[in-house]
Amino acid sequence: MEKKIFEEKPSEGRRNFLQAGGMALLGLAMPEAMSAKPRAAESLAMSGGPKTVHFPADKLEALTRWPRYGQAEKDALHRLIDTDMFYEELPLFEKEWQAFTGIPYLRAHINGSSAITSMFFAIDLEPGSEIMVPSYDFPTDVLAMRFFSYVPIFIDISPTTGTFDLEDARRKFTSRTRAVFPMHSWGMPSDMDHIRDFAKEKDLIVLEDAAHAHGASMQGKKMGTWGDLAIFSFQASKVLPTVEGGMGMYHSRLHYERATAFGEYLAADKYPESSPIHKYHGTGFGQKYRMHPFSAAVGRMQLRTFEATAALVEKNVRRQNDPLIQLPGLSEPFIRPDIKRAYYHANMLLLDSAKAGFSRDALVKALKAEGVPVSVWDYPEQHKLTIYSEAKWWHHPIVIPTSMPGNDYINGQHIFLPLYYGEADDIIDQSTKAFQKIWAHKSELA
Ligand SMILES: Cc1ncc(COP(=O)(O)O)c(C=O)c1O
Repeated sequence: MEKKIFEEKPSEGRRNFLQAGGMALLGLAMPEAMSAKPRAAESLAMSGGPKTVHFPADKLEALTRWPRYGQAEKDALHRLIDTDMFYEELPLFEKEWQAFTGIPYLRAHINGSSAITSMFFAIDLEPGSEIMVPSYDFPTDVLAMRFFSYVPIFIDISPTTGTFDLEDARRKFTSRTRAVFPMHSWGMPSDMDHIRDFAKEKDLIVLEDAAHAHGASMQGKKMGTWGDLAIFSFQASKVLPTVEGGMGMYHSRLHYERATAFGEYLAADKYPESSPIHKYHGTGFGQKYRMHPFSAAVGRMQLRTFEATAALVEKNVRRQNDPLIQLPGLSEPFIRPDIKRAYYHANMLLLDSAKAGFSRDALVKALKAEGVPVSVWDYPEQHKLTIYSEAKWWHHPIVIPTSMPGNDYINGQHIFLPLYYGEADDIIDQSTKAFQKIWAHKSELA
């Protein structure tokens, strides 16, 4: 029953379309760099040939710099600092984020981590309850479980998408499992429809980490609204950055009230007397997690330009990736036809070394010599870190998996190209030529 759609090879449909002259069929001119023809004439730069990419470092910095704050953000902060009505900014940002996502209840948080901790409080599970979470994830998603005596079950990621591997979750399900907590790595939505079906079958709560996926959607429904509860981070590197900030997203009024009263000592005072949380008026539950009003002001301004920026980034990614994924062994994480993904941090590509005939290290060395701004960064695998293996931090033992082939593949075979936040055809096309030149000389890399 597991998604026929994923049996297709990553990017194969797009590759076939391009190879079949799809651009010409649509009457579109194909940029020279998009031709799949190898460019063998010149030697590789690492073998003494000329570099392919000639792009000044300051121009590259200007195109890739993130976050970007302009006059609108500065004006909003100046206006705010001159008033004594700071806190009014919070409901305004919440209203706008609610209109953008369509969630029934939400709360602006000091950061994504505080939204996660509040979410764990809100679900009110028995001590010893297991929550399935990717090991390829941010520490708070796992560590905050400690405070509520929950037990993380480390789940692998899919080597084709880099997100929650539902098959691994099925294998690791036990009678103590109570929730799943997928994360949309680098803006690629996890298969929330299939995850929800699994959760329904097993009576699990669906939590969702949308910290990388602002504006992404599946079947037209925004990420951050698929989980029963979800979180966003607006930290400075994120797709919508407010320097620090987060959002808790809730479908039920009770989850909203519990999560909010956990982080605001006066929240319960505002709930109706009929609310089971109202009796905690005057105290709440001990934390102070309200978003800083300056972050809310910046968030409101960022939201105004958000969709135009995301569209520009995506246009640049397509111009870069469409020719590159025609090269044997090079693909991008598979994009289901019913999703709109976001792009966070970098443009990830995956190298199948067996098909390409050379290693990721050899490719990176050759690309750097050609002047391509390429990098790699292994996402920390939580299950390998010390804190999960020391019993004193946990109320219940944690099973540390011995094998995570999806993590290994994504960490071992990815390369990152930059996301460009301006018109970047020059550097994109020069980079494409560098890849094509390397593939034409692939025997030298083997
Ligand atoms: C996937 C993921 N979840 C949660 C967080 C936590 O967000 P914050 O840094 O706003 O606390 C981050 C932060 O980088 C993250 O990448």
